[in-house]
Amino acid sequence: MAHLWPIGGGKGGSGKSFLTSSLGRLSAELGKKTLVIDLDLGSANLHTLVGVPYPQKGLSDYIRKKIQRLEDAVVETPQSNLFLISGAHDNFDIANLPYEQKIKTLRAITKLKYERILLDLGAGTSFNTLDFFLISQNGIFITTPEPTSVENVYRLIRAIYFRRIRYCFTATQFKALEKETDREFGNGAMNKPIYMMKMIAKTDSEKYRQLQDEFGAYRFKLVINQVRKHDNTSLGLQMSRMMERHLGLHVEFAGNVSYDDHVHDAICQQVCFLERYPYTKTAGDLREVGRQVAQDAGKQLIFHYV
Ligand SMILES: Nc1ncnc2c1ncn2[C@@H]1O[C@H](COP(=O)(O)OP(=O)(O)OP(=O)(O)O)[C@@H](O)[C@H]1O
Ligand SMILES: [Mg+2]
Repeated sequence: MAHLWPIGGGKGGSGKSFLTSSLGRLSAELGKKTLVIDLDLGSANLHTLVGVPYPQKGLSDYIRKKIQRLEDAVVETPQSNLFLISGAHDNFDIANLPYEQKIKTLRAITKLKYERILLDLGAGTSFNTLDFFLISQNGIFITTPEPTSVENVYRLIRAIYFRRIRYCFTATQFKALEKETDREFGNGAMNKPIYMMKMIAKTDSEKYRQLQDEFGAYRFKLVINQVRKHDNTSLGLQMSRMMERHLGLHVEFAGNVSYDDHVHDAICQQVCFLERYPYTKTAGDLREVGRQVAQDAGKQLIFHYV
């Protein structure tokens, strides 16, 4: 079974596609049969970053039933061991993917025969994006050091945990839980998973244990991208600590990736950054992040069929 890494960030332009393509390439270079999937259907451009300017087929052919099996939507890339399912050819947003299609696609992804699968998720916190993130216990969040981007990734992480909690309850039960959490811990407490979990511990120990076990198995990572010289290089560690303390969520800092104008140059030339500029600091940073992320690759996966 493949190891799955969804890659998400609250804000557009933080570097999700750049990181997906880079980690995909690094994994392929290690001899792992690797697939990258572009789930940012509305503004898909992962194909360009992996050197496939005109993908002949893609995910939308599967969703629109022109292709029966998801594996038939895979195209090769110029990099050996690296394959792509493109999100191009369509302009509907993943947020609008109907429920049945989402479940079908989620299941099909988990059955693909690759060693590693990386999912490039679109920006935002639509339910579909959250569900694709929850496909695996692994996951990578990316943000730039800008406060707007940090705020959005923080919101995304919180939304993912809430989405998971939400699955344990009916809509009415969840509403009641929100109200009780606020009543018990003060106004606004329901916006913090740590308080909601405390409330669940009081009212339903079975569900609490189940959620605790699952959250404990998550291996979520945080990457800070486009870090410039004068930026605070400790931001990732600080964010990680803050999430633990204030939200009760464990997201491990996996490293900074330096800002480099060559990233822009490589994209304009439609070549992979790591291939063209392998000796830059940014390339070294990406390799370090790749190592950090792969460290947990041996762990078991959890899937959420919603
Ligand atoms: N480390 C970096 N150094 C310099 N520029 C970068 C770096 N990472 C990303 N960029 C720039 O940011 C742009 C956006 O990156 P990317 O397309 O990967 O973001 P994204 O999060 O996938 O955006 P979207 O949400 O629009 O899909 C790139 O075109 C590139 O120019
Ligand atoms: Mg993108």
